[in-house]
Amino acid sequence: MLLEAERLHVRYGRIHAVRDVSVTVEPGEVVTIVGANGAGKSSLLRALAGLVKPSSGSIRFDGADITGLSAPARVQRGLVLVPEGRQIFVSLTVHDNLLLGAHARNDGEVARDIDKIYQRFSNLAERRHMRASVLSGGEQQMLAIGRALLARPRLMMMDEPSLGLSPLLVSRLFDLIGEINRDGLAILLVEQNTHMALEAASRGYVLELGAVALQGDARSLADNPALAAAYLGT
Ligand SMILES: Nc1ncnc2c1ncn2[C@@H]1O[C@H](COP(=O)(O)OP(=O)(O)O)[C@@H](O)[C@H]1O
Ligand SMILES: [Mg+2]
Repeated sequence: MLLEAERLHVRYGRIHAVRDVSVTVEPGEVVTIVGANGAGKSSLLRALAGLVKPSSGSIRFDGADITGLSAPARVQRGLVLVPEGRQIFVSLTVHDNLLLGAHARNDGEVARDIDKIYQRFSNLAERRHMRASVLSGGEQQMLAIGRALLARPRLMMMDEPSLGLSPLLVSRLFDLIGEINRDGLAILLVEQNTHMALEAASRGYVLELGAVALQGDARSLADNPALAAAYLGT
């Protein structure tokens, strides 16, 4: 198992945002977490990334207990989050934003990896010396993903990457998720776009009020009438 989170709880004062949630991701797997607004999806990802401290529970990654590790230490091990809302630095250039993704690396292959990102995203290559503020929402999402890839992740966690994108860009985003997964990366995908997320994933979890309400293989979740009623608008 690549990621194994057991019985996580996240509390913000009196708000109990994540309740006894256990999730696993195998190497190379795409797993999705879906659920309504406020269900605790971002809190769960932030706990896995080390950005919020769980009040209890444990997290193993790649065979080691990382529950007590800082966020940068988790990135260094290959557990990387593309946060909700992208959080790129709009006053920095596209290129400098990409470099930030590689800041923890000390190998000699960063320039080569950046070239690969530019080959994949020609819009970013053309704007590499411009401020990131000139990018469209879709391009900013690609930049956030490119930045995350530069950390050389083994597991990429993505928090609602399709939010605010046009339908065309959403389908390009899901193509990209498939591509980077075929390169061997495991992906933990939080989405409101339940339908597409379940299509991209092999397994899924449905969060409701902070707890896992349903889980299973993606196809049976997509066919589950309870999920359909709640999230797929049928
Ligand atoms: N920093 C915070 N401080 C207090 N409450 C928070 C904070 N972040 C999230 N919450 C609350 O925790 C619950 C889960 O939120 P969140 O994890 O953002 O859900 P989701 O990503 O599924 O929309 C919500 O009730 C939200 O209001
Ligand atoms: Mg969220």
